[in-house]
Amino acid sequence: MADISELKRRALGELDSAKDSKELERVRVKYLGRKGELTGVLRGLKDLPLKEKKILGPLANELHRELEEAIEFKKRELATEPSYSIDTTRPGREPSIGHLHPLTKADQEVRKIFLGMNFSIVEGPELEDEFYNFDALNIPEWHPAREAWDTFWVKSGKRDERRLLRTHTSPVQIRYMEKHEPPFQIIVPGRVFRYEATDASHETNFYQVEGLMVGKDVSLANFKYVIEKFIEEFFRGQKVDFRFRPSYFPFVEPGVEVDIRFKGGEWLELMGAGMVHPKVFEAVHYNPRDYQGFAFGVGLDRLMMIKHKIPDVRLSYGGDLRFIQQF
Ligand code: FA5
Repeated sequence: MADISELKRRALGELDSAKDSKELERVRVKYLGRKGELTGVLRGLKDLPLKEKKILGPLANELHRELEEAIEFKKRELATEPSYSIDTTRPGREPSIGHLHPLTKADQEVRKIFLGMNFSIVEGPELEDEFYNFDALNIPEWHPAREAWDTFWVKSGKRDERRLLRTHTSPVQIRYMEKHEPPFQIIVPGRVFRYEATDASHETNFYQVEGLMVGKDVSLANFKYVIEKFIEEFFRGQKVDFRFRPSYFPFVEPGVEVDIRFKGGEWLELMGAGMVHPKVFEAVHYNPRDYQGFAFGVGLDRLMMIKHKIPDVRLSYGGDLRFIQQF
């Protein structure tokens, strides 16, 4: 009499280790095919004595059903498994690691150049008091310059405390001078804010680098030298023209502006500057007869635009990878 349980064990074992549909088919044919082992057992039933037939018949039929089910199940299992193999010799996919934003690089470069000229780096708050942003810089409430520097005012709890997002880095001049005595030379890189319409060279949020050098006899000639050196270093290897022209800011006297242009293109205003106004020294309790110095505020975004020939400052803040990945 055929050993059904042994047959079952073998058949299920082979089914289990079948790795693809070809192997599965081989196992199916081996047991359930026309000349299959189980088929043979079922065919031979009719020749068996009744007693054996009664025992073996149901067992063999049950196994037949069981194997068919198991084959169906295995078929579905193999179909859902992805049939790929791993090529371990293929080079890996390079991870994308990103890089610094061109504005960050410009900021680092500016810091390095001024550190090389013995300037210290100072920072100040982006949320400012009205006093530091305007009054101490000789811009009282009625002054028309306040119009040009409209900004975002922030609600505050106290009645006579007025706070705003700073319109320039110049308030840090006051904060620094309140706590230090000349001689010194500092730069103040930082983010500034203005309530104004945006265009290719104006953003509502941008960056400036303030400069301040004060001593007994610091002059406009010193300013010119420092700025020429700075521009030479920052645009090393590039042909740029720049010009100084008279201008007006309430916190300097005389005031100048520096414009820059790349390869004979349009002039772009790069910075405001001048000799620190005596009223500003008075606001920090320096005697204007003892000290003099220069201050400037340069647009970091503009420096970056000229350096990389970027036509629109707004590209810099758009977060568009097609822009960022070019640097
Ligand atoms: C000032 O902000 C003065 N605090 C500069 C100064 C400092 C003068 C010390 C004298 C002494 P102004 O508003 O011109 O000035 O801005 C200075 C520079 O910031 C500009 O020359 C320009 O390069 C840049 N800038 C101004 N407005 C924007 C803007 N909306 N978007 C991008 N850059 C700007």
